[in-house]
Amino acid sequence: MSEELFITASAGKKEKYESLLPQLAALTEGEKDLTANLANLCAALHETFGWWWVGFYRVRNHELVLAPFQGPIACTRIRFGKGVCGTAWKEEKSLLIPDVNAFSGHIACSSQSVAEIVIPIFDEQHQVVGVLDVDSERFGVLDETDVYFLEKICQLITNIL
Ligand code: SME
Repeated sequence: MSEELFITASAGKKEKYESLLPQLAALTEGEKDLTANLANLCAALHETFGWWWVGFYRVRNHELVLAPFQGPIACTRIRFGKGVCGTAWKEEKSLLIPDVNAFSGHIACSSQSVAEIVIPIFDEQHQVVGVLDVDSERFGVLDETDVYFLEKICQLITNIL
């Protein structure tokens, strides 16, 4: 795998994800170090979509702890059931929040973030081991297409745990 992404800048969102997925699979396969893989995955997503913030939190001693990310500094620890991240963990499901102001308990790591997606990452026993968090500073950018493909990317992580 060359260390360069091939994404057509003018392509639509779905086409970008379809082109990105096999490249991410190739990028991570054969590498056993999870931190290295998470670092490259969020870098690839950030490079492709230019979101405000994209990164991971990992479950550590029953808390979510900040892991590789791209974007401004962020809160380091999130408790079970707290914020969008802790809620996605507790409910074991993806959350698409088109307007964070409408989500009671949203944790504002950055006042610039207005919309968010959080995808739980499961291990082979279906235990949540972390979450993928995407933040946008623009309304209407994040939608169900992102949820669909980001879940596929999180499935890739399950496969390499
Ligand atoms: N907004 C998140 C906190 C993490 S930051 O957005 C990076 C939440 O409510 O859980």
